[in-house]
Amino acid sequence: MQLRHYLQFKDFTAAEYGHVFARVKWIKERFKRYEPYLPLHDRTLAMIFEKQSTRTRVSFEAGMLQMGGSVINLTATDTQISRGEPIEDMARVITRMVDLVMIRTFEQSIIERFSAHSRVPVINGLTNEYHPCQILADIYTFIEHRGPIRGRTVAWIGDSNNVCNTWLQAAEVLDFNVHVSTPPGYEVEPERAGLYGTDHYEEFKDPMDAVRDADLVTTDVWTSMGFEAENEERKRIFEDWCVDAEMMRAAKKDALFMHCLPAHRGEEVTAEVIDGPQSVVWDEAENRLHAQKALMEFLLLGKVTP
Ligand code: CP
Ligand code: NVA
Repeated sequence: MQLRHYLQFKDFTAAEYGHVFARVKWIKERFKRYEPYLPLHDRTLAMIFEKQSTRTRVSFEAGMLQMGGSVINLTATDTQISRGEPIEDMARVITRMVDLVMIRTFEQSIIERFSAHSRVPVINGLTNEYHPCQILADIYTFIEHRGPIRGRTVAWIGDSNNVCNTWLQAAEVLDFNVHVSTPPGYEVEPERAGLYGTDHYEEFKDPMDAVRDADLVTTDVWTSMGFEAENEERKRIFEDWCVDAEMMRAAKKDALFMHCLPAHRGEEVTAEVIDGPQSVVWDEAENRLHAQKALMEFLLLGKVTP
């Protein structure tokens, strides 16, 4: 089987996403019926965390165990990375011993260097630039609630961070639109976002204009992991980019609200919105499990048909 990695959303085609989303549905339904599905019974996943995690850690570990495999969890401080072992050497060694690697780290270039020396599929569990597993689950969640995403409008309010970049890539792959509103100086950087063009997104100065008629409103923390030194300054600059009830009223009547979590109520979103009827954040978080099980199946076994 051809070696495939999942480092950015655009690593898969629309047709491959069609297959993966169908597998997410199948795997989730089976899980809900308590029917075991153990196709990875002899496989091992190594997870390397250089940043904190709750959802990514639990969903990958639970997912691999539920599919019959085993998991090794490594943090930077546990390993020789923290003592300067080259990432290329880590990749050469670890990937002779396990079947799959998930990495959460800082620059995208770190995961690219690792994958260039890997014998097994590598999954991006979040970098400064991208968070493809999150958007895989988010789009599956949208489809579950509202049907196909093609042609729909997603409003992104706040920082043009790793999650925003991944929404923008997804819009190109799956042909939908993103309305982005960020404070001045925090706009989308198309090259960093890995975009082919600007056809699938539009930037708005006023967040109220960005959410108008959106099918989905989404946001994320104002300060991402690794940028904590900017926290106080960002709190002042981002003050008007808080998703509140007024913004949700400007979106479509049946608009959904999503947030990758962890959230800061009263900063990027009000408690009324995140805990309100349009919010699907708990389904979104749960779907990390089902989506990543389908992703691991695809990378290790190829196109499985039921
Ligand atoms: N959304 C997300 O990736 O959460 P964690 O940082 O808890 O893994
Ligand atoms: N943008 C956030 C996402 C956390 C899941 C961060 O990188 O910290």
